[in-house]
Amino acid sequence: MKVVYTISEVRELVKQYKRDGLKVGFVPTMGYLHEGHGSLIKRAKDENDIVIVSTFVNPIQFGPNEDLDKYPRDQKRDEEVCETYGGDVMFLPSVEEMYPEERKTTVTVEGLTAGLCGAKRPGHFNGVTTVVTKLFNIVLPDRAYFGQKDAQQLMVIKKMVRDLNSPVEVIGCPIVREEDGLAKSSRNKYLGEEERKAALVLSRGLKEAKKAIDNGEKVSKNVISIISDVINKEPLAKIDYVSIVDINTMEDVEEIGSGVLIAMAVYIGKTRLIDNIILE
Ligand code: PAJ
Repeated sequence: MKVVYTISEVRELVKQYKRDGLKVGFVPTMGYLHEGHGSLIKRAKDENDIVIVSTFVNPIQFGPNEDLDKYPRDQKRDEEVCETYGGDVMFLPSVEEMYPEERKTTVTVEGLTAGLCGAKRPGHFNGVTTVVTKLFNIVLPDRAYFGQKDAQQLMVIKKMVRDLNSPVEVIGCPIVREEDGLAKSSRNKYLGEEERKAALVLSRGLKEAKKAIDNGEKVSKNVISIISDVINKEPLAKIDYVSIVDINTMEDVEEIGSGVLIAMAVYIGKTRLIDNIILE
């Protein structure tokens, strides 16, 4: 596996791959890789000749009071995980490499970013869509892989690619969970022992919601109450939002039909975790 730090090195490699007629799959990450990232890398390897993984803790997608400075980093471990799952190239740019001068361009996807995490983290999705556009322009992948763990992000990027005619196929991949149901996340590292147990309220809430819906419950606000009750019973947990939205518009739905996303963000102590399920 090659490890490169500069845009020009990536461009040089990709030029050669394209000359050789190879398909390039791309997995953008912020590092501290786990099996969730691994599943994306593996899928990319299955469907492409070459897999490029970027690891870049993108400062412009963090709010002023968020965890940019303490976001977990471990390059050596990341390289091992990346290689294990079949990554061919790791691209690890510095902040100076990605943002060498004052940036005057921002990529914005309207509407889909108004609710859920977009409402709670102002500017976050602009940071994501701007860096992903830059990374797509650097890596020029045939396919790019994103997790359903960040369902709103996935839908926003799919919309951006359609609107801008980017020559990239965006592929969504299922959420990878711990055995007890907690969605894998780099931020799980922040959790103390008691918090780790408390964090199960997210997946448990979703499970209860699914059960109620399977038993015929159709009213969104009733399902939101079921989830909120599960979470509010846990003293270490504080709801940021619980929403039920149309998967295509990200707008609230009153009644649960098909194509619905049930999404939540919950603070466990100081750590903000997200989880969701999609009802097809
Ligand atoms: P990061 O949080 O590192 O996630 C990178 C990719 O891994 C995202 O597509 C995310 O949805 C996926 N992922 C994370 N946990 C997962 C899990 N448990 N199961 C499946 N997929 C999972 O998302 C970002 O970084 C950044 O916003 C980025 C897109 C790289 C832009 O900076």
